[in-house]
Amino acid sequence: MSLEEKINKIKEEVKNFSLISNDDLEKFRMKFIVKKSEMMELFNQLKDLAIEERKEAGRILNEAKKAIEDKYLTHQETLSNQSVDYTLKEDITLPPFYTNKGSRHPISILKNKIVEIFTSIGFIIEEGPEIEDDWHNFSALNFALNHPARDMQDTFFINMEDQLALRTHTSSVQIRTMQTQKPPIRILAPGRVYRNEAVSARANCFFHQIEGLYIDENVSFADLKQTLFYFVKKMYGEAVEVRFRPSYFPFTEPSAEMDISCTICKGKGCTICKHTGWLEILGCGMVHPNVLKNCGIDPEKYSGFAFGMGLERQSMLLNEVNDLRTFFENDTRFLKQF
Ligand code: PHE
Repeated sequence: MSLEEKINKIKEEVKNFSLISNDDLEKFRMKFIVKKSEMMELFNQLKDLAIEERKEAGRILNEAKKAIEDKYLTHQETLSNQSVDYTLKEDITLPPFYTNKGSRHPISILKNKIVEIFTSIGFIIEEGPEIEDDWHNFSALNFALNHPARDMQDTFFINMEDQLALRTHTSSVQIRTMQTQKPPIRILAPGRVYRNEAVSARANCFFHQIEGLYIDENVSFADLKQTLFYFVKKMYGEAVEVRFRPSYFPFTEPSAEMDISCTICKGKGCTICKHTGWLEILGCGMVHPNVLKNCGIDPEKYSGFAFGMGLERQSMLLNEVNDLRTFFENDTRFLKQF
């Protein structure tokens, strides 16, 4: 077979070689393009030809080589485009499946606001366990042994032998903090508390409180008032009015309850404030010397104030929610309004 015949044979093979897959492409390359291929071997044979024939044969060979490469490259490109299938298999005109986006719980929103106000004036966040012993929840807080709050009627005991109970207030965190830290102490303790109460629109068996405690030398009732004034103005606006009413807690002396002018009727009287013009938002007082002593702090040297507020009550007032139970039902129709 002459060189020309061999070239024609290869040309014919190239023409008939179908390139459908990447595999075909590779076989094609091995057969016609790589150095050791049948086609490329033909170039070696050029040297055996007479000079005048060599020129023409070289031209034909180069032409064939170019055609082979062209075929290879065009198919390579088509195949690489095909490997990604851009055709849509879904019906994009169908309505989408909606997923419900979560939102922050109203109690968390309120908690975060209060935390922000107090941390900006130097209060530090502390936490305590929700299962407490009698000492931290009652005794260290100066509750008399026969105090009604210790009663099973009010407290969820979980172990009578060790007097373990679900904490009834965040004041237990006062004790834990004073036992482990030296004054000056400035803490804020948000948390969940439990009371054995019949569930109704105004009460639940658990709810949330934020406790505040400030212990240092020469802390006075004026400091307590000024701190709470500051908080209330930041929280409810400059126009809000504040009043203190004498009250009683075993762990503070003197004790007070703090009211703010009704945020709804601005003090004129409405159903929310039961026509008094005032809303009760927290209990507070000067830390009782017995409590300081119980925690190893010298009441002759140090004094301090404490306050505790319920979050559900405030959120109800702020958002005009009339049933406290809605905070705990996790109904998204309620939750997404905040
Ligand atoms: N622990 C009290 C309550 O649950 C609130 C309170 C805290 C009062 C701190 C005075 C000082 O009602």
